[in-house]
Amino acid sequence: MTFTETKTFQNYIGGEWRDSASGETFESVNPASGETIGTFPRSSAEDVDRAVEAAKAAFEDWRLVPAPRRGEILYRFANLLMEEKDEFTDLMSREMGKVKAEAGGDVQEAIDMSLYMAGEGRRLFGQTTPSELRDKFNMSVRMPIGVVGVITPWNFPIAIPSWKIAPALISGNTVVFKPATDTPLLGERFVELLIEAGLPEGVINIVHGGGGAVGDRLVRHPDVPVITLTGSRETGVEVMRNAAENLKHVHLELGGKNAIIVLDDADLELAADGIIWSAFGTSGQRCTAASRVIVEEGIYEQLQSRLVVAAEKLRLGAGWEDDTDVGPVINRKSLEKIHSYTEIGKDEGAKLLTGGEVATGNGFDKGNFYRPTIFGEVDPQMRIAQEEIFGPTTALIRVKDFDEAIRVSNGIKFGLSSSIFTRDVNKAFRAMRDLQAGITYINAGTIGAEVHLPFGGTKDTGNGHREAGQAALDVFTEWKSIYVDYSGKLQKAQIDTET
Ligand code: UN1
Repeated sequence: MTFTETKTFQNYIGGEWRDSASGETFESVNPASGETIGTFPRSSAEDVDRAVEAAKAAFEDWRLVPAPRRGEILYRFANLLMEEKDEFTDLMSREMGKVKAEAGGDVQEAIDMSLYMAGEGRRLFGQTTPSELRDKFNMSVRMPIGVVGVITPWNFPIAIPSWKIAPALISGNTVVFKPATDTPLLGERFVELLIEAGLPEGVINIVHGGGGAVGDRLVRHPDVPVITLTGSRETGVEVMRNAAENLKHVHLELGGKNAIIVLDDADLELAADGIIWSAFGTSGQRCTAASRVIVEEGIYEQLQSRLVVAAEKLRLGAGWEDDTDVGPVINRKSLEKIHSYTEIGKDEGAKLLTGGEVATGNGFDKGNFYRPTIFGEVDPQMRIAQEEIFGPTTALIRVKDFDEAIRVSNGIKFGLSSSIFTRDVNKAFRAMRDLQAGITYINAGTIGAEVHLPFGGTKDTGNGHREAGQAALDVFTEWKSIYVDYSGKLQKAQIDTET
């Protein structure tokens, strides 16, 4: 079976595959070749309402299924994903564009997360504590919340849905899932495997369509108490505002403008490898991508030349071809945005060292290919050093010492990932303490988070929540404190103080 045999796909609501209520559709397009991947329902509020109704009804029983049993379904899902890893990888290289090694990593991250959360089925730990009164027992337990609205981006089309859906399900919630309109087929395959793994009807629902229609209705729907979104800062602010009316739990994972600091004493070869991987991996389309490189002045020239040579060696091409290092960017609009930042950088007076253009000829014209781009002599306040470009563009900033490096790294509105290359253990520990970010790497680039640690950022990267690890459970559960008085008499807390 190949994934692209069937061309028209549907929503999955309450255990049934259905077209959108309006009958309207949209297409998913291969970003490297321009070919159509499939046709999907362009849904509206009516479809969302049906899905929420189904998810709400399914919650009544799903919340009572023992968590270890829910975990077994996630184990089966992980196993299915392992079996189908190659097909998912190939499909991802065609629908999203990333190179095969990275697409495999994306699928692996979802396998890891599903196994991790399946294990939570036998933990979901709460606490027991002493009581201040005799013959009384105190504990706290995690309770499921209800229907979770899951809104995911295209850049990690399998991993990110797993970060949200696996913890939501293990905690006993039901889900309405809206995948990105650039990667709907991967979203649909993800749901097919969950169904095959044995999720009861209504527990998982997928509604395809745009943020304006489907996403917005989920965010405003009074029966969806939890919204989890990975997207832009602007969308995050809008979601939070629109969810406020219903006092929803809102989990936001937004932008980044992550920096790698390289000090004079660093292993330069290692640093250059880390920078190239973090800046140009996934064509720079990771929230964690290194779009700034802060370099101590003693090694600036040397590092700059190494990076230019390495960037120029990267082979641009279709993600499914074995010798490709850098794939296309997701769509035309994105290509134009990335190029507009090259113009902005030039106008601001930064030095374009390499790249800076849309790749043409050689089959590139059918897709959205941008040359890996490095700017040198960038001032930390320039727009290319402040705003998220989400493409294969990075900015080199020269600093005089460690303190200035930390200041520059922190001098942005985002706070997702950060990194420092140094052999000085004291400076490494200072960086761990002082970098304002949810993630700090020592002697590694800014990408490559593992699923059992919290993932997320400070400042404008989010609203204080984290996904992945134990921290994810806080998004999808509500604490309940329980007091059991077995004294047989009325005991008054804070008043009956005698022992
Ligand atoms: C993202 O870019 O939104 O740490 C997620 C990383 C990956 C996840 C990135 N494991 O780069």
